[in-house]
Order: sequence, then structure tokens, then C-alpha cells
Amino acid sequence: MCGHPNFLENFDLNTKETINLLAIESSCDDTSAAVLIDGKVVANITATQLDHEKYGGVVPEVASRQHNIHIGMVVKEALDKAGIAPIDLHAVGVTQGPGLMGSLVVGVAFAKSLALGLDVPLIGVHHMHAHILAHLIDEPKPEFPFLCLTVSGGHTQLVVIRSYKEMEILGTTIDDAAGEAFDKTGKMLGLPYPAGPHIDRLAALGNPVFTFSKAQMPDFDFSFSGFKTSVLYFLQNQTQKDQDFIKNNLNDLCASIQMTIIDMLTAKLIRAVKSTGITRVAIAGGVSANRGLRNKLTELATIHGWDLFIPSFEYCTDNAAMIGINAYFKYLDQNFETQDMTADPRLAF
Ligand code: KG4
Ligand code: ZN
Repeated sequence: MCGHPNFLENFDLNTKETINLLAIESSCDDTSAAVLIDGKVVANITATQLDHEKYGGVVPEVASRQHNIHIGMVVKEALDKAGIAPIDLHAVGVTQGPGLMGSLVVGVAFAKSLALGLDVPLIGVHHMHAHILAHLIDEPKPEFPFLCLTVSGGHTQLVVIRSYKEMEILGTTIDDAAGEAFDKTGKMLGLPYPAGPHIDRLAALGNPVFTFSKAQMPDFDFSFSGFKTSVLYFLQNQTQKDQDFIKNNLNDLCASIQMTIIDMLTAKLIRAVKSTGITRVAIAGGVSANRGLRNKLTELATIHGWDLFIPSFEYCTDNAAMIGINAYFKYLDQNFETQDMTADPRLAF
């Protein structure tokens, strides 16, 4: 990590100058730009790519082409909304990884060019750190240390957060992520991609009357492949007997799938609280938008006396505001990148 040579000559954190920061997120299929003034989010604009629905999943080539189309307009809209001209920016933050290479490259190349042209620092942000640090955007903010269950389309992690840059992964998935478990089982039910929000909606209309297998993983790790296979075999079996089985039981199937995933996630969270003694508990990532998960955690927090932190819906799925808050902390630490920074699909945590 190196400083920005010209900028650092004049870098003085004691100046009372307002810090205008632009953040860009393009790790998967959402193109997002945010503007933060002194760490406060004043614009957070996201273009969601709808093309993937017809392919039943994110097609990397399509995603990067769509980022190319959207990125300039999304950045302009965020700047306009914030009332900030590019020349007034003090730094540009961007998701460096992990994510899809072709998607990340669009955001990283755009951010590098902008930082170079404006002669301001470039800041690289880890996408999964950012999901967690979204909790530090608005009040109430968890004090350190806190535990976070980060559940997205690509990751499932249980993390201890000791400061904005000291994070320890206690457990992770050994196969599918929780969001994938929603999306893949939802696909078996004929639901559009991403199926998570559809399962969430339909589950509220049904009852969890079906039982699927839950992996018994050691320690704090997760596994969803056995569960996925058990849903597949169950559906194959039932539709052999009644070809309308899925149609006639859709809401109950969604409720049962959702409850099984939630049970697997919360079992590990309870274990992590017991083992660490940390009772400040947060959830993050796209799956944290799930109402069943939110309700279950609210119940658990009351039973076990946890301080529970649930992000607003705006900050659950991918967004640039979360990249911005992480970039802002890095800005205060003068933790900058040079122009040789590259997008890294497997960026280490
Ligand atoms: O964090 P995110 O936007 O992107 C990644 O970094 O992966 O997460 C996307 C994932 C998808 O798998 C989507 O189905 C899931 O989050 N998701 C949900 C809900 N909203 C989004 N899963 C369950 N219930 C929801 N309401
Ligand atoms: Zn994400």
C-alpha cells in the first residue's frame, strides 16, 4: 500500500477541510456510485442489471458489458444528487475484490482514471469488509468488538470485527453461499433469478411443513450442498407422484426452504456468541434483507440478550455507500493505492 505522491505532500488531517469522497461498486451485477461528505452518505445510486433474470443467473460477460454501459451515468447521477462537481472530490474509493473479474475491472479502471485525472488518492476496498462496515454508516452503530454474519450470493462468513481493519473469520461455507442456497433451490421451484427475494415473499404466505436435511458441520463452518440435494430429491420424488406438486405447495415449500437455511445460519451464530462472549451481533449482505431471518434474529436477541444490528434494506444488497464508508476510514488512515492497483477476484480477506 503506497501513498499518492503529489497528494501526500499537502496531506494534513488537521485541516478542517470538508472531505468529498466518491465510491464505486461493480463486483457482480449491480453498478453503484455513492458520494460521502465527511463520512456521511449524501448519494447512493445503483443500476441493477435485469438481463440476468432471463439466463437464470449472472452471466459474467453480460455483467461487465452492462457495467460499461451504466458506470458513467451512475457516477454522474450520484455527483449531481450530492451537488458535487468532479473537481471538488478529494478521493475515489472502489471495490478491488473479491468478485467477477470482468465486473471489477470496469469499476477499478474507471476509479483509477478519475483519481489520476483529478490528482486525488485512490482507495481500494474489500467487498466483504464493506458489507460489514455498512453498519457504521448510520446510527445505531455497533461498538467494537462485534460479531457479523455476512450472508450474500457469493459468501457466508461469521466474522469478529475488532476495528475497521482488524477482522477475523471464525467460519465460512465449504461449498455454496447462503444466497446461492436460496437462488438454486428457488430455481428448482421455477422461481426467477435471484430467487432469494421471491422465496422471502412466498414464505410469508406458507408454513414450514416440509423437512430438509441440515448439514452438521464442525465449529463455525457452513455447508449447503447436502440441503440443496435433499430439496432436489424431495421435489423429484413428489413430482413423480403429482406433477403439480410444486405449484400446489409453492408457499409451504418456500417457507420450509427458508426456515431450514435460517436454522443452519442461526445455529452457528448462537455457537459463536457462546464461544466468544461477544453479544453485539450484526448481519450483513444480500440475504440479510430476508424477513424470516430478521424476525428470527430479533426473537433470538430477546431470548439471549443480544444487541442486534440489522442493516437498512438499502445497505443489504450490493451498494457503493458501504464501499464509501470503508474508503473514508482508509482515507483518514492515508491508506491509499497507486495506479498499479489491479482488480482482484480473489482478494484476501
Ligand atoms: O450481497 P449481494 O447483493 O451480492 C453479493 O455480493 O453476492 O447478495 C445477493 C444475494 C442473492 O443470492 C439474493 O438471492 C440474496 O442475496 N437475497 C435474498 C434476499 N434479497 C437478496 N435472499 C433471501 N431473502 C431476501 N429478501
Ligand atoms: Zn455483496
